[in-house]
Amino acid sequence: MTDDASAPAAKKLFIKTYGCQMNVYDSQRMAEAMGAEGYVLTEDQAQADMVLLNTCHIREKAAEKLYSDLGRLKPLKAGKPDLKIGVAGCVAQAEGEEIIRRMPLVDLVVGPQTYHRLPAMVRGEAPRIVTDFPQEDKFDHLPAPRATRRAPAAFLTVQEGCDKFCAFCVVPYTRGAEVSRPVERILREARDLVARGVREITLLGQNVNGWHGAGADGREWRFGRLIRALADIDGLARIRYTTSHPNDMEDDLIQAHRDVPQLMPYLHLPVQSGSDRILKAMNRKHTADQYLRLIDRIREARPDIMLTSDFIVGFPGETDRDHEDTLRLIERVGFGSAFSFRYSPRPGTPAYERPEIEAAVADARLQELQALLTRQQKAAQESMIGRTLKVLFEKPGRIDGQMVGKSDYLHSVFAEAPQARIGDLLSVRIVESAPNSLRGELAA
Ligand code: SAH
Ligand code: SF4
Ligand code: F3S
Repeated sequence: MTDDASAPAAKKLFIKTYGCQMNVYDSQRMAEAMGAEGYVLTEDQAQADMVLLNTCHIREKAAEKLYSDLGRLKPLKAGKPDLKIGVAGCVAQAEGEEIIRRMPLVDLVVGPQTYHRLPAMVRGEAPRIVTDFPQEDKFDHLPAPRATRRAPAAFLTVQEGCDKFCAFCVVPYTRGAEVSRPVERILREARDLVARGVREITLLGQNVNGWHGAGADGREWRFGRLIRALADIDGLARIRYTTSHPNDMEDDLIQAHRDVPQLMPYLHLPVQSGSDRILKAMNRKHTADQYLRLIDRIREARPDIMLTSDFIVGFPGETDRDHEDTLRLIERVGFGSAFSFRYSPRPGTPAYERPEIEAAVADARLQELQALLTRQQKAAQESMIGRTLKVLFEKPGRIDGQMVGKSDYLHSVFAEAPQARIGDLLSVRIVESAPNSLRGELAA
């Protein structure tokens, strides 16, 4: 959907997205669904006829952000009583009508598995709060995306939900059980994206590598096979996927990293901790050593692969020794970058009732771990200097003639490229590393 100044009657929709890439994808689908109702997107909240907050429940801070943002909407709603305010996403799922009780200015609450019903809710033809886990597939009920041109890199959700029940995590409760979308739908959506200008697709799922489905041949397909089928689409230059779970890294997927040139040498593989005791308490169902051996096998298949991860620091019961085990694992692997979080107790999860460790201790550990990860990130970026890498240009930079894109390893690369167009995949020689990006020059 695009802004359309020539249609003054159109209503304006402002969407704010919190949380993971799956929410980014969902916001896009909700915008398309509301587009069929005559809404166009606006970047300016003050102009909106409807404000939709697509929320995240993963940590307490993320959930509380919703309430502070809702508080800030009070004056806008007071001056514009017809303004509709909707809350979507994982807080909507977790808290339901509690949101309206706490913030009566909210008109609609819709969960992540029911947002195909949003248009009916806005029309007043469905309840104000819809947070069930329906049997029907929401994707079957969403309007087909309009044939508008798309940016060169796109997300495509192939799997939703989680059955793993890590002791700290709300996702199994907010997104429900693991469901894989059918092969044919995924391939159709991918072909449609490519026809609309997309050259890079990132497959999304809370456990994306757990995806499986029945192929047209009636045989069971695993995730590696899906990647091979996507690689056959003409014009699709790059395939990525996130987030994967170590226990779902099957041999065929590892081999795809060796065999499929379109599959980028980049893997986000959260481990959370390097201590077997803590991994067990977290219900991760693998040991540190199993993770390390898995990394060895992946690197054997694709030696230049860039690995990234997630860590939780200060999980209940974590000792200095456990923390050192985590630092040791990080040193062993050498990550290109990583996200690390202080443990946040989430109501309804098994770890919620467990005694927390001292905040100052957890903070100190987090700082130490982040310092190590920052050093590794810097080293990984500096190892790119002097190399010529392919960059998919996604937008102009701030400086005239400059373009920004992503390398195969997902680094942001800035380059002087006045002739380049958005969607060009060009060779760039890297000359400099900045804190969160690289700078390069177009190679001849
Ligand atoms: N499905 C993905 C992760 C989804 S949540 C996976 O299993 O890897 C993204 C990250 O948020 C997690 O990897 C974890 O590091 C972090 N996270 C989840 N729950 C958390 C909590 N209660 N406190 C702190 N961090 C948390
Ligand atoms: Fe959460 Fe664990 Fe599922 Fe990831 S695998 S979404 S961390 S329960
Ligand atoms: Fe957050 Fe829900 Fe994603 S809790 S991380 S938006 S799945």
